[in-house]
Amino acid sequence: MERLGAHGEASLAFAVQIPSPQSALEPAGRDAERIASLFPILFGGGAAIWLVVMGLTVYAVVLRDRRHQRDRTRRWVVGGGAFATTALLGLLLVRGLSAMPELLDPGAPGGPKIRVSGEQWWWRVRYELPDGASFELANELWLPRGRRMPLLLESPDVIHSFWLPSLGGKIDVIPGRVNRLGLEPTRTGTFTGVCAEYCGLSHARMLFHVVVVEPPAFEAWLAAQRADARAPAAVLAQRGHLLFQQHGCGACHAVRGTAARGAVGPDLTHVGGRVSVAAGTVANDVAGFEEWLARTEALKPGVHMPSFHMLSSEERNALATWLDGLQ
Ligand code: CUA
Repeated sequence: MERLGAHGEASLAFAVQIPSPQSALEPAGRDAERIASLFPILFGGGAAIWLVVMGLTVYAVVLRDRRHQRDRTRRWVVGGGAFATTALLGLLLVRGLSAMPELLDPGAPGGPKIRVSGEQWWWRVRYELPDGASFELANELWLPRGRRMPLLLESPDVIHSFWLPSLGGKIDVIPGRVNRLGLEPTRTGTFTGVCAEYCGLSHARMLFHVVVVEPPAFEAWLAAQRADARAPAAVLAQRGHLLFQQHGCGACHAVRGTAARGAVGPDLTHVGGRVSVAAGTVANDVAGFEEWLARTEALKPGVHMPSFHMLSSEERNALATWLDGLQ
């Protein structure tokens, strides 16, 4: 796993390995399949138009001295340029628009509702369960394979864009409105998404992961996520929890089952079990948490969380051990 440089400015490299390439041509969901099916039409259509235009160019050059043929050539140019273009673009428009109702279908009601909030520069994810319970996590969604799940997307600050090419289309996340997106995974695995709309300094550090599992594993995950954090057994982790309280981390972060109830930053109740930390900025292990605590602002320019470089390395290690243990 690649690590970031020791000091100074943020590196462009990500410390987190991307579990799967973000390819719209390798669909793992119904919506992505529909979008991928447009590719041969666009590519084939583009290639056909290029061939026709090149053919007409050669034809025009060959016939340039035969005056009596010029009118016929002009008719080709007008017919090809105006009529053929309008007909082709019209066909593509109909094909594209006909896919839209299905892409926006939120699925059957009754299951969990997932609210995704794009914030500078992370994704707040909230699961609202049919029995009224809810929980929050960050930069990660879990979905069951074979079931259509509705996503409600919103933003409290600027425009972001939720883009998960393996599973579905791209949708803007706009302050003051709720956009809807349905996702129906067809394969299990961990997929990577990004923010696809420039939203400020750390726009490029706004990765998220989507973990697709079989439905029973999804139900087990829901049950584990709604449970409170476990109290640490080891002395080092207990010291870390104490440091978390002493340094006022709970003013911004919530850890359910403890006194920490902050709502500004990510909920950390089960942070140790996530794919990455800080929206793909560092790896989710003790070393990753230590690095994040020491060099927060260098790793993610403009981030609202201050660096905790005043902590000694032993203190950072204790805090990181506690966070890593919040599975
Ligand atoms: Cu959020 Cu770019």
